[in-house]
Amino acid sequence: MKIYHLAAECYPIAKVGGLADVVGALPKYQVKAGLQAAVALPFYNRKFVKENKFDVVFKASTMFGGNRMEFEVWKETTDKLGFELYLIHIPGLLDRKEIYSYPDENEQFMAYQLAFLDWINWSQQSPDIIHCHDHHAGLVPFLLQHSAIYSRLSNTPTVFTIHNGQYHGAFSWTKIKYLPEIDMLHAGLLDWAGGINPLASAVRCCSAYTTVSPSYMDELSWQSNGLEPLFQMERHRGVGIVNGIDTQVWDPATDPMIAGNFTIKTLVKGKQKNKEALCKRFELDHKLPLISFIGRLVDDKGADLLAEAINRAINEHPGKVNFLVLGTGDPAIEQSLIDLAPHQPNQYRSFIGYNEELSHLIYAGSDFLLMPSRVEPCGLNQLYALRYGTIPMVHRTGGLRDTVIDFGDEGGYGICFDQTSIDDICYSVSRAVALYQDSGHLNLLRTHVMELDFSWDRSAKQYIDLYERLINNI
Ligand code: ADP
Ligand code: GLC
Repeated sequence: MKIYHLAAECYPIAKVGGLADVVGALPKYQVKAGLQAAVALPFYNRKFVKENKFDVVFKASTMFGGNRMEFEVWKETTDKLGFELYLIHIPGLLDRKEIYSYPDENEQFMAYQLAFLDWINWSQQSPDIIHCHDHHAGLVPFLLQHSAIYSRLSNTPTVFTIHNGQYHGAFSWTKIKYLPEIDMLHAGLLDWAGGINPLASAVRCCSAYTTVSPSYMDELSWQSNGLEPLFQMERHRGVGIVNGIDTQVWDPATDPMIAGNFTIKTLVKGKQKNKEALCKRFELDHKLPLISFIGRLVDDKGADLLAEAINRAINEHPGKVNFLVLGTGDPAIEQSLIDLAPHQPNQYRSFIGYNEELSHLIYAGSDFLLMPSRVEPCGLNQLYALRYGTIPMVHRTGGLRDTVIDFGDEGGYGICFDQTSIDDICYSVSRAVALYQDSGHLNLLRTHVMELDFSWDRSAKQYIDLYERLINNI
């Protein structure tokens, strides 16, 4: 079975968040399960691209917005990623440093999708499934069915996975000129609220859509930035599949980015070693419980509340708890976290920026990982924390609800709260501080969380079952 994954991010080539982790891991596990899984990614001007070898496997030009657009398809030559990697190279449009946030972002992702389809079509390939991730690849299901130039491929089943339904990639109908000729009788399938909405179009036109957790599938019906009626209508066609983690990359026993490797048997000493290294680096007292936050500094992650909540929690527990924040994002939130430092010089540190290596050390060296997200379609941070023996403190939403059980409940191991509010965050900090005093209980929980299996094996199988159902038309 040949699968193409289309997405804007893929670890280790180009990563902003969890989308990259999923697209860099799921295909690997699909290959392990006997599928031929490939990723076709936009060609960005990134370190990975400069440092690795590629063959140009296809070269063509296509009409784009009234002009001829040249493009190439590059194939990575080794099999070190564990799956085939293709880069869609459109000089001048895609080969830039950043992945997002250019003013012509709509044109960039339209061009990427068209070049991909042209390549597959003209090179006479017939994939069994085209698996599109998020709105950046959301026009593909429509184009396959309603653009005559791709009619050879019109029966190819498409899967559309929603990693974040808050972002739709919507744009004005004036940009229709960038798309190839389409069957105007079906143009309504592109529309939502008077604009072209790739996310809405993908949900309507794909063979099946998925979310990255079952709870998030339910939540889209009342929280999807204006698409609620669509999700209420289409709910019966959707499947929620919880993300896994790549246990080759995220393994405390072998991780080269942490201060000392450890297993379940050596977890107490191992975590201590990482905590000491982390605390030394940030000049924090390693004897106190360490609560960390890692993530994009945006309201969806509850990051706007961090500075105030941390300030209050420290005032409630003077000399009793430390906080560490690693993140980048909204400048106002970044500033609030910088401004907190002089007020809490002893028990709080932040690193504003993106640092993959430091994130690994924080998962390994922290006692608790705080995730007060308002919206969390799956969340990978809590899964990494669990694997590194770190207790997650999470708002019960989306994938956090599906993957973390409160330690007060049967079989539980985390700290859960019901609202993204300063009160709830501070209450959960008090519970963490109390739990830390009971080292016997804490170590039992740490052992338990390291034993949990959130590897991709199970979830990858669910995707394969879905592909088989679509291919066999069941
Ligand atoms: P999202 O995709 O919404 O940002 P996820 O929890 O799915 O959230 O994934 C976030 C991923 O990005 C994790 O791998 C996390 O470790 C990583 N990450 C987020 N912010 C940073 C940062 N500032 N530095 C390093 N890694 C980060
Ligand atoms: C999105 C979501 C996050 C999820 C990730 C990978 O970025 O915000 O919750 O884990 O995609 O699916």
